Amino acid sequence: MKVRDVMPTVENTHNFDIVPDSHTQVGTTLENLKAAVIGETGASAKYAAFAKAAREQGYEQIARQFEATSAAEQIHIGLEAGLIAQEEPDYVKPEPPDMSGAATDVNLISGALGEIYETSDMYPSFIKKAQEEGNAKAVQVFSRAKLAEAVHAELYLESYNNIDAPDDDAYYLCPVCGYIHKGDDFEKCPICFMPKDKFRKF
Ligand SMILES: [Fe+2]
Ligand SMILES: [Fe+2]
Repeated sequence: MKVRDVMPTVENTHNFDIVPDSHTQVGTTLENLKAAVIGETGASAKYAAFAKAAREQGYEQIARQFEATSAAEQIHIGLEAGLIAQEEPDYVKPEPPDMSGAATDVNLISGALGEIYETSDMYPSFIKKAQEEGNAKAVQVFSRAKLAEAVHAELYLESYNNIDAPDDDAYYLCPVCGYIHKGDDFEKCPICFMPKDKFRKF
């Protein structure tokens, strides 16, 4: 993803449409935030299990990638749960489900499919509803998550295609928005502009 001059938002980018065969059940923004937390909690647990499987199967770099992406989803959970707690101070986050991994190439595709769903269907649907409700904070949290998920998907497919040709690259996680960069050839987050020295290396 290229670094833009301004932060990408619903107003200044053009890929916030919703796929025609949407599978997202849209409620109020508060309900959508809770649904997003449940989805992200499942994704984070799934990637943690996939990381363990990848390491056992000898894919150390992909294990780090899954760990970085699992941590990215925790950032989204924190942002979304924070907005929920503003309306419901007693809100308790859901427990992570038990997850297990299969073969690493299949796990990469499973991860990519989940990320593509989130970036092209779930988050755009939730963004549209938050806009209708005039909830600017939710629009921003959902929008940044949507953009990060697209990059997670892209990186999973890259690893799928290169599974037999790993390199030495590390994965760098933006601690603000959950964007991940493969390799150290970057200066700042293309989504939220956080500088590289704030990133977490995996
Ligand atoms: Fe993701
Ligand atoms: Fe970022």
